[in-house]
Amino acid sequence: MNIALVLAAGSGTRMNNEQPKQFIMVKDKPLFIYSVETFQKNKDIDAIVIATSNEYIDYVQNKCEQLLMSKVKAVIEGGETRQASVYNGLKQIEKMISSPKDLVLIHDSARPLVSQRIIDENIALAKQYGAVDTVIPASDTIVKSMDEETLGDILNRSELYQTQTPQTFEFGIIKDAHEKALKEKVPNVTDDCKLAMLYGTKVYFVKGDKFNFKVTTPEDLDLFKALVK
Ligand code: CTP
Ligand code: MG
Repeated sequence: MNIALVLAAGSGTRMNNEQPKQFIMVKDKPLFIYSVETFQKNKDIDAIVIATSNEYIDYVQNKCEQLLMSKVKAVIEGGETRQASVYNGLKQIEKMISSPKDLVLIHDSARPLVSQRIIDENIALAKQYGAVDTVIPASDTIVKSMDEETLGDILNRSELYQTQTPQTFEFGIIKDAHEKALKEKVPNVTDDCKLAMLYGTKVYFVKGDKFNFKVTTPEDLDLFKALVK
């Protein structure tokens, strides 16, 4: 069984918009629906769980019904941090799976242009290795700065990648990592692969896609709107 966990519980502070960015209407539908539709259409996805903030649960449920997103089996309350939202999603998914080897694809609803190829490759590789990230090679040289003013380290571009989502895991692996992190009070980690690696899981990667960018700032939103025009 392959379940998509779509995260839509953030508040979008960097977007500086009245409502959270995932609910901004783009063409005829809210932004979060774009990725939900892509999971809905994928033949290997069995169910979709959406985490959102309490005040949007009814809205998300209604929109999904209206748009015939029949694989959306649960809309649950997220948490204060991304990590907490994922954990709440995992607790819901635990009730739905039949084996700890079932796969969970964790996806940011703020990445509306995830592709079928990316989903297919996540599933194929996670079946084989248990933990998968989606990354693209860095195209700009990346530098580190310690003081926010001057260059520190200039990093070696050929070794650097930017991570995207989905990040896909066997349920047992990611649930364990989250529970250990909770027990050890590991502070908010915005990346599930980082959590899995913290507890010794080797993470393989599939190639992402520039179009699978995260809508974070008003400029990103303009770009997304131009692409779907
Ligand atoms: N997310 C979530 N629960 C949170 C925080 C984030 O489900 N408590 C989700 C967001 O809805 C988003 C994804 O995680 O789809 C990636 O996070 P990010 O782009 O950082 O979104 P926000 O946290 O909403 O934005 P910002 O950091 O600018 O406030
Ligand atoms: Mg955030």
